[in-house]
Amino acid sequence: MKLGILFSGRGTNLNALIDACKDDKYPAEIAIAISNNPNAEGIAIAEAAGIPVQVINHKEFEDRDTFDAALDSTLKEAGVELVCNAGFMRILTSGFVKNWHNRQLNIHPSLLPAFKGLHVHDRVLESGVRLTGATVHFVRDEMDEGPIVAQVAVPVNADDTVETLTARVLEAEHQIYPMAVRLVAEGKARVQGERVTIQGMPDSKTGPLFVPALS
Ligand code: GAR
Repeated sequence: MKLGILFSGRGTNLNALIDACKDDKYPAEIAIAISNNPNAEGIAIAEAAGIPVQVINHKEFEDRDTFDAALDSTLKEAGVELVCNAGFMRILTSGFVKNWHNRQLNIHPSLLPAFKGLHVHDRVLESGVRLTGATVHFVRDEMDEGPIVAQVAVPVNADDTVETLTARVLEAEHQIYPMAVRLVAEGKARVQGERVTIQGMPDSKTGPLFVPALS
C-alpha cells in the first residue's frame, strides 16, 4: 500500500514509518512525504532516507480550501492510497477529510478520547492520571476524533516532567504507528459503523491492569 505522510515538525513518527517500510515484508511503502512547514526537521530525515519529500507551505495559499486542494492533488499524483498524519498540525477541511474517508490515519499522544488537542502532556501531568498513552485512529471532521485502530498505554511517573513523559510516549508512538499501518495495509482493520474491528484478533480476555501512583 502506498503511503503519503503529512508532517509539520520534528518527524520522529515519519522516521518510524520510514524504518518500518525498509523491511521487504512490510506491506506498505512511502510514496511521498509532505510538510506544510518549510523549516520542519522531518524534511532532512526524509531526504536522508531517499524518500520523495515536498513542502506545501500553507502560508502561500489564500485559504484552507486551496491549500487542501494542493495537498490532495499532490497525494493523488504520487499514487497515495493511505494518508498518515504524523505530527501534522493543520486542521483539514471537511472536503479533504471526505475525499480520504477511511483512507487517512492520525496519531495522537494520548488515550483518546481523553486529552484531545494541543499541550497534551502538560494537561496529563496536571490532571494526575496514572496512565496515558497514544492512539492511532481514522480521521474524521472533528480534531483527534475517529474510529480507533490501536492504542498503547504508558504509565505516568510521579517525577515526570513534560520532557520525560513526551519521550516515553513518543517511544510508544513509534511502535504503535507502524503496527496500526500494517493492520490497515493488510486489510485487517475494518471500519464498521464508527468502530474498527481487527480481523483475526479476538477481543482481549485479559483482566484489568492496575497502575498505582508511581513514585
Ligand atoms: C507526536 O507526539 C504526535 O502524536 C503529535 O505530534 C507529535 C509529532 O511528533 N500529534 C498530535 O498532537 C496530533 N493531534 P513527531 O514530529 O516527532 O512525529
